[in-house]
Amino acid sequence: MRKWRSRKWQRRMSLKLDYNYMMSEFVGAEHGIDEEDLRGLSEVAGRLHQELAESREKGKIGFYDLPYDSLTADKIKCFARKALKKYENVVILGIGGSCLGPRALHSSLAGGTLANLASRRARGGIPRFFFADNIDPDTFGGILELADPKKTLYLVITKSGTTAETMSQFLVVRELLRKKVGASRAAGHLVAITDGQNGRLRNVADREKLTDFIIPANVGGRFSIFTPVGLLPAALMGIDIDQLLAGAAFMDERTAKADLETNPAYIAAALLFLSDRTHGRNVNVMMSYSDRLYDIADWFRQLWAESLGKRLSLTGKEVNTGITPVKALGVTDQHSQTQLYMEGPRDKVIILLTVDKPAGSVKIPSLYPDLADLHYLGGHTLEELFAAERLATEYALLQAGRPSLTISLPEVNPFTLGQLFYMLEVQTAFAGGLYNIDPFDQPGVELGKKYTYGLMGRAGFEEVRENFEKRTPKSEKYTA
Ligand code: PA5
Repeated sequence: MRKWRSRKWQRRMSLKLDYNYMMSEFVGAEHGIDEEDLRGLSEVAGRLHQELAESREKGKIGFYDLPYDSLTADKIKCFARKALKKYENVVILGIGGSCLGPRALHSSLAGGTLANLASRRARGGIPRFFFADNIDPDTFGGILELADPKKTLYLVITKSGTTAETMSQFLVVRELLRKKVGASRAAGHLVAITDGQNGRLRNVADREKLTDFIIPANVGGRFSIFTPVGLLPAALMGIDIDQLLAGAAFMDERTAKADLETNPAYIAAALLFLSDRTHGRNVNVMMSYSDRLYDIADWFRQLWAESLGKRLSLTGKEVNTGITPVKALGVTDQHSQTQLYMEGPRDKVIILLTVDKPAGSVKIPSLYPDLADLHYLGGHTLEELFAAERLATEYALLQAGRPSLTISLPEVNPFTLGQLFYMLEVQTAFAGGLYNIDPFDQPGVELGKKYTYGLMGRAGFEEVRENFEKRTPKSEKYTA
């Protein structure tokens, strides 16, 4: 049974997009967007909205309707309730869209890496979480040592069920489990999250009767956070997944109209598109003024890069579109990147992520009254300093003619996070339309995968391997 909060509470928790400092009126005509330019897009926006709505209706684009899949959510909650009593560790085996979402949820809503250092009791019985993600043997080997297999649940997450990185981690874990808990009990420590029909993991899950959760066929990896890919780990982290989905549904309502002025996802996409097209700002820096939201910038990096970075338009014309997403952390990167953002190439838009009411509060004591340039800090709080630094940076950027937009969450909770993830997904789908490319495919990663298969001796890829071996050898002349 879903617990919905009152409309009043939901409205109070509404995400806000502030794009004042994107506009010519503030940042100057040379750098900003005119209201007229935005109005010029309204017809296109109407058409794209219609097309997206039709694709949704026909079931071609699946992510839109995920917030309403209460059956899956209930199945997940039921599984999680039992698993939470059994396991001390959860290890996520997955990469790209099969890892970035769960990791962003863990850092924003479940304490992130720091939580692993606390006692199980202090974590409220929630397991420690490890995200294998990369295949670097140093890290993966470390995770395998830290998490005792007898007390560990491994979530194998791969939509295609064939990804070499995830499947090789699975093979390692499968064998480890056979040795440590025995072949008959190994299945009890594994959950497969994958396609319902296709892929090698699907075969293995069926053959070995693994607990499994399905990623719908019409939802791509980077749009899968509201499928079991994000929801199962979230439930195991003790996150209220009903609230997460309620936040997404709330944003679905807010993005249901073509009207650029009121649709936060569409206006953000339109502004970033126009900044790229009219001012050559093809780098978007997502700068989180919240440690808890920093991994969302990582999740967004994949979404924005893989969806918009395309060689061909929908009509097959070579267009080579794309915006380079960069992640940054406020205030840390004020001491590392801001110099570049202020004075370097005028190729960036800064997207500030902020939280109106951080959960923690730290008071700065009033010491050294004789040292005025130290004493002024006393009596304030760290959150005041944090907010002051963000406002100061935003204004300094404006004065330097550097546009920025701000996405603010009233607080970090599952409902506000659900809104944020959903908004960025809709923004990406809409931006794909503006660029006239397909935001849901990723043909550019295939070639590298094929060479890897060839090099690793996969049957059917012999020719690719031969081709690789015949490559022009590198010259010593160009080494130093
Ligand atoms: O968005 C995508 O489809 C990809 O980036 C995938 O998330 C990534 O390649 C992992 O694929 P899979 O889930 O099939 O292992």
